[in-house]
Order: sequence, then C-alpha cells, then structure tokens
Amino acid sequence: MGREMVIVLDFGGQYNQLIARRVRECNVYCEVHPYNISLEKIKQLQPKGIIFTGGPNSVYAKDAAVCGKEIFELGIPILGICYGSQLMAYLLGGKVASAPVSEYGKTEVEVDTGSDMFKGVSETTICWMSHTDYIEKAPEAFRVTARTTVCPVAGMECPEKGLYAVQFHPEVMHTVEGMTMLRNFVMNICQCSGDWKMDSFVETTIHAVQEKVGNGKVLCALSGGVDSSVAAVLLAKAVGKQLTCVFVDHGLLRKNEGDEVEAVFGPEGPYELNFIRVNAQERFYKKLAGVTEPEQKRKIIGEEFIRVFEEEAKKIGAVDFLVQGTIYPDVIESGLGKSATIKSHHNVGGLPDYVDFKEIIEPLRMLFKDEVRKAGLELGIPEHLVYRQPFPGPGLGIRIIGEVTEEKVHIVQDADYIYREEIAKAGIDKGLGQYFAALTNMRSVGVMGDERTYDYAVALRAVCTSDFMTADCAEIPWEVLSKVANRIVNEVKGVNRVLYDCTSKPPGTIEFE
Ligand code: XMP
Repeated sequence: MGREMVIVLDFGGQYNQLIARRVRECNVYCEVHPYNISLEKIKQLQPKGIIFTGGPNSVYAKDAAVCGKEIFELGIPILGICYGSQLMAYLLGGKVASAPVSEYGKTEVEVDTGSDMFKGVSETTICWMSHTDYIEKAPEAFRVTARTTVCPVAGMECPEKGLYAVQFHPEVMHTVEGMTMLRNFVMNICQCSGDWKMDSFVETTIHAVQEKVGNGKVLCALSGGVDSSVAAVLLAKAVGKQLTCVFVDHGLLRKNEGDEVEAVFGPEGPYELNFIRVNAQERFYKKLAGVTEPEQKRKIIGEEFIRVFEEEAKKIGAVDFLVQGTIYPDVIESGLGKSATIKSHHNVGGLPDYVDFKEIIEPLRMLFKDEVRKAGLELGIPEHLVYRQPFPGPGLGIRIIGEVTEEKVHIVQDADYIYREEIAKAGIDKGLGQYFAALTNMRSVGVMGDERTYDYAVALRAVCTSDFMTADCAEIPWEVLSKVANRIVNEVKGVNRVLYDCTSKPPGTIEFE
C-alpha cells in the first residue's frame, strides 16, 4: 500500500502494544507481529524499521523465543529492547550473562549523546529497568552507548548496519526521555516522515472489513459506550445496511441509559442503522440469582450476551459476522496475551467456547482508549459521545459486590445518578477518567430520624487515567463529596453510609469486581 510502517516483533514481553502505540504517536503506522514471522513476510510488509520487544525468558532458556540472524542482513534498522537487546547481542556474537544484581524500576543511566539514539537526551537520565540477564560484552562491530552501575552495556549500536539496542524500556512513562529516544529511532534512524494519522487507520480498517465481509450480514453488539459506538459507526461506514446493531438492555445499565442509547442509535437518531433493542432484564437477573463470585458473574453475563445475540442473529437469518468493540487493554487484562489474567472482560475472555458465528470482527482490538476516541472523532461521532466515560460490558453487575438483585440495581443506579449529576454541576467531569458509585455488600448500623437503620454502604470511586491500565485516585473536592454523600443517604432508600475509595490501580482495579 506504500505507506510507512514500523513493525514490532513480539518476543512475549508485557509492553508490546505499548511500543506500537508509542510509534503511532510519532504518526507512523505500527503493527505487532510474532517473533517468528517469516523473512518473506517482512519483505512483503516493507517496514522502515523493526523493534524487538522484551520477553520473559533468558536467551539461553530451552524454550526461548529466538529468530534467525538473517533478519539483521535485511538492511532494515532494528531496535532491540530488553530481551530484544540481549537477543541481538547473543545472535551477533556478544556475551549475555546473568547479571550479578537484577535491576528493577527507575535506574540512572549514562548515555552517549553522540549516538543517534540519544540525540537531545540528557547525559544522565532515568530509565525503567526490568531484567535479570544483561549484555556482558557487546558483539565485535558494536559500540557501547549507555551504562549503569550494574550494566556495562545498557545500550549498544552498530550504525553501519542500522542496529541499536537498549537494556531498559523506552516505551514506559517511567523512562523520562524514552519518547525522545523512540522518536530518534523512528524519525531519524528509520527516516520515517510521520505522515500517518488516525484517519488512515479508519480508512484501512474500512477497506479490510469490506474485503472480509463481502456481501455477508454483520451483527454488532452495541452497548452505547465509546468502544462499541465507534465500532458500530466504523462498520456502518464499511458495510451500510448489511449491518444490524443489537443493543441488549441487560438491566445492569446506568439510570435512563437504555433510553439514551436508543435515542442516539435508534430510528430517531442521526445514524441510519438497523437498530434492535432487546429488553432482557429478567433473563439476566434470573441467571445471576444467588451468584456471588465475580468471575462467575462476568462469565454468566458475557455468555448470556452472546446467547441473546445468537437468537437475534437467527431471527435476522444468515448472519456471518459478529462485531465487538474490544480494545487493547481488554485483550491483555483478559490474559489472552502472555500476561496473567486479572479479570475476564466479558467481550473477550468471557466468550463461551462455542459461538455460533462464522467469525468475530474486532476492529479496535489493537487500539488504546484514547486512540479509539481519536478514531471516533475522525468518524464524525459527536464529542459528547466520544468523550463519555467508559462503562464496562457487564455493567452494574460488577459494581454490585456479591449477589445482584433488581433492588440493588436500583440503589446503585440512583446513587450513581446523583454522583454524576453533582460531578457535572461542579464542572470537574473533564478531568476524571472514570467515576461511579458501587454498592458494597456491607450493611451497617445508622440512625435516621431517631430510628435505627441497618442499610447498605455505597462506595464512590473516581480515578484519573489516560490508558486505564494504571490509574490514580482522584482528589474530589470535599464540598462535592459531602454534598453527594448527603444526597445519597437522603434520597436513595436502603443506603445509610457513603464511603470514598482512595485506592490507585495497581494495587486496586478501577471496577470493584
Ligand atoms: P479494571 O476494573 O480492570 O478496568 O481496572 C479497566 C477499564 O476496563 C473497563 N472494564 C471493562 N470493559 N468489559 C468492558 O468492556 C468488561 O468486562 C470490563 N471490565 C472492566 C473498566 O470500566 C475500566 O474502564
């Protein structure tokens, strides 16, 4: 297609997509491929640069991910990161060994600012390290460009062959000047011009979907949230009326949300979509009765979702494809990559083994939330929808700790409504990544109008985050919190206590379950 691209070769590290995202931030298209991609495929892709990721193993491990050394002869600049740097050293005749001391976390690194990799970087800079092995000796043709007190080769290069390596992780925020280093690699060393934008993603994805779907019928799982709305509008642009959007009201939505979604995407809204609303509240409540274990709740809600879709698909007849608005953090946090399972997000890990569609299309699978928002704006979706705070697929089901009942749903809906209303009134919503009320499973004693009460405690949560992988607890002004607390205990029956969750992520997660 003649567009500039850098590819990331995945050796099993945690930050693979983050590296790709950082490259895209330089306005250069980037894809992640497995480390054992064939040389022919690489030649076909014609990347302007290749980045080797980190990985969990030692290069000497029996099942280590190792590529052939012919890749270094392609004449394409390569940057090795962490394990990727060790692999480069190992394959080209350097020495990799177990470091006398493992380095984890923020580490002072001395860099040679004469290197093209480190142009504009301070001579001593803070970088994020996470390794047990290290490069003891660089290969013959290489020059050492960075060191720490532990690492004799924290960076090395052979500019004649376009080969560069760093032991630390330039892609994570803790590496203070990491973005400058990556930009140096992408723009100066690989000589990319940086003319790629999100509209290119939209355009390419529309073409890819058209090719895949042909004349087939497509069903889209629309929740009204940012991700599925962007996926739906993208698909509508690609295949028009071949698409039907199904919106399942599972009875776990925020107050009035079902009607709001229908107003935007239904027949009265601005989009010409085939739109079906399924009121399945009773069905979900029944399935959830008596269930308290969070993962089981998530799986039940996820599975029931799919069943409802399948039924709708059968009614429409001959539906081949199911579209989901899965985004990248859902994919890794569900443990489908190599990281541990934190929660099975229902639109990924919670899928039942058998799904009665030919294929699932997840056009946003490789994007982070803020990239999805950019794509949404490119597609002409109004700002107020694009910047909506995220709402999880399993809805209030994971904001009610313990068993879900209709009564508890109403309590959390009403409390959450008050909270959101007061946050908006105070004008602080734009600075918050996500904020909501949850219902704890705890009842405690209170006193109201001289009467003893024994009611639920509502927990309020607000976090600041841009990627939803990590989050800080937000400092909501006390006047706002106390007003919300007051209103909730006065206006919501069944609640006599309001708590504020001060936990960041990690160690907490954003949702409660
Ligand atoms: P956690 O609780 O894992 O949440 O820190 C991170 C972000 O993901 C959202 N979330 C989900 N989204 N299906 C979704 O579509 C899910 O099952 C799900 N669980 C969590 C959560 O609201 C936050 O934005």
